[in-house]
Amino acid sequence: MASFTVTALAPALGAEISGLDLRAPLAADGIAALKRAWREHLVLRFRGQLLSDPELLALSRVFGELDPPGPNPYGKPFLAEFPEINVISNVKKDGVPIGNLGDGEAVWHCDMTYIETPPMAALLHALDVPPSGGDTFWANMYLACETLPRALRQAIDGRRAIHDATYNSAGMMRKGMKDVTDPREAPGARHPLVVRHPETGRAALYLGRRRNSYILGLPLDESNELLDQLWTHATQPEFTFRQQWQPHDLILWDNRCTLHRRDSFDPGVSRIMHRTQIKGAAPVPYVEPGTMAA
Ligand code: OGA
Ligand code: MN
Repeated sequence: MASFTVTALAPALGAEISGLDLRAPLAADGIAALKRAWREHLVLRFRGQLLSDPELLALSRVFGELDPPGPNPYGKPFLAEFPEINVISNVKKDGVPIGNLGDGEAVWHCDMTYIETPPMAALLHALDVPPSGGDTFWANMYLACETLPRALRQAIDGRRAIHDATYNSAGMMRKGMKDVTDPREAPGARHPLVVRHPETGRAALYLGRRRNSYILGLPLDESNELLDQLWTHATQPEFTFRQQWQPHDLILWDNRCTLHRRDSFDPGVSRIMHRTQIKGAAPVPYVEPGTMAA
């Protein structure tokens, strides 16, 4: 039996897994135990993991089939040899960015929910991190859902929202997109606002990102007002975990029941992360037990 310890990192979500070397293949019982800890804590952190790119890929496959990165603004993979790996970095080589997201803030978001089948998880491996700044935060969307004021929950019951495909979390326009003037016409998937997590069966608030979001069927101003209330509720500090990166931290998160954001950092320092993501299924609406789906 692979033995490791699980230590909660914040009351809302996040746990540190220690005692594992992720370069070594995990036994089946160890994988099962890890997945249980993951379902419970949503975000797992492993420190001091000296993973090569092939090792990161092998580890990622433990959690499912790899989902290639979404198109980046430069139209080709950052690592020609490992196209399944995405690079998150502000570093430029000969004036050309080696990765995505730059050095600015990345606003609260869920990854790639503008497509019908967003990735279910992601792994982020820190190779080079700034001495300060660039912290990443996650928020627990089960908790956000369970604590929604009743009127707010009722207002979104059975509703879907548009997950705009136009901009990434760093505010850059995606390749081939044009500016959105009316959120009701934004391109991108329409997902239920409350989803059922396929493994835990729990209800999670599913917001994607705020910019150009729109709750279908409502007048625009009503949709905006509701969305502002939902976002304020969902991102309150009590629901979050803050990650201050050390080199060779590896973080695994569940993209179906969390949001994340990143602080900006000094453009003069370098931050390099290698990242993979795991294929997911189309989000399904949560239906209260004892009620029939319409
Ligand atoms: C991501 C992301 C934030 C960060 O990899 O999906 O949002 O801290 N990264 O780099
Ligand atoms: Mn992200």
